[in-house]
Amino acid sequence: MTEAKYIWMDGEYVNWHDAKTHVLSHTLHYGNGAIEGTKAYKTVDGRCAIFKLNEHTKRLINSSKMTLMDVPFSVEELNKAQVELLQKNELFEGAYIRPLVYLGYGVMGLYHKQAPVKVSIAAWEWGAYLGEEGLKKGVRVKISSMTRTPNTSGMGKAKAVANYLNSQMAKFEAVEAGYDEALLRDDQGYIAEASGACFFIVRDGVLISPPNDNSLESITQATIIDLAEDLGIEVVRRRVTREEIYIADEAFFTGTAAEVTPIKDVDARVIGSGSRGPITEKLQTAYFDAVSGKNEKYLKYLTYIN
Ligand SMILES: Cc1ncc(COP(=O)(O)O)c(C=O)c1O
Repeated sequence: MTEAKYIWMDGEYVNWHDAKTHVLSHTLHYGNGAIEGTKAYKTVDGRCAIFKLNEHTKRLINSSKMTLMDVPFSVEELNKAQVELLQKNELFEGAYIRPLVYLGYGVMGLYHKQAPVKVSIAAWEWGAYLGEEGLKKGVRVKISSMTRTPNTSGMGKAKAVANYLNSQMAKFEAVEAGYDEALLRDDQGYIAEASGACFFIVRDGVLISPPNDNSLESITQATIIDLAEDLGIEVVRRRVTREEIYIADEAFFTGTAAEVTPIKDVDARVIGSGSRGPITEKLQTAYFDAVSGKNEKYLKYLTYIN
């Protein structure tokens, strides 16, 4: 991570190293918080723009509502703060933006309604989440022994801090076993999502992605589905089982950080040709065109910062 100059905290710009919170902050103890992961890209005209800023900020507010935190800022105020933060930090080459809603210092004990709701936004330059090489050649994936937290036990649609313990355990297991990423199943054994991304396969030219029954309502997944439809690729949302992946022609992850990352093997079974497949490549190119302002139709999702 490359440090930037300022972090936005509850309306103030604070020096990066002074962006601190009390050790008795409620979220540190009981895990109720909500995050976003948003990205800004350098655009084709040399400027820089945040992709789907409004969608991400709305999801932050929605995640917070689901986990019972009243955010003391509006979507518009938080959008403005993100634009200003990038400007103040001179992040004109692109950036990863990490808004966080958390419960601060004030009360202890599980009942949290008296705890102050705090908001911070950090931004920094961050390269490809699964590596530049991963974007071109694909990554190695392991089906996790961890079950994605079932809907009966968690707030699965919320991008809640607490959900990332599940993701973190799965990611660790995969990386320690020599893989790059983990794919989690739901409590019925169907593929849910990766530790930090959504999942697609291609079979006989048809693009298939599991429904969001047990996964984050992913903004990138929605973009990819729109782009696929623009390209005349048939898209089906249905449940996918483990063994179906092994015989898929192509597979890839999507996410704001993961972008469109091809999968070369799953549980040591080579997927298709074992490298980035043709439909994956088409969609990856279309995605980078959309975020960088090369696709007229998607310009409406860009918020320019300069
Ligand atoms: C668990 C999980 N699923 C899916 C995604 C993809 O979501 P999005 O495309 O909105 O970034 C992410 C990334 O934020 C994630 O953390």
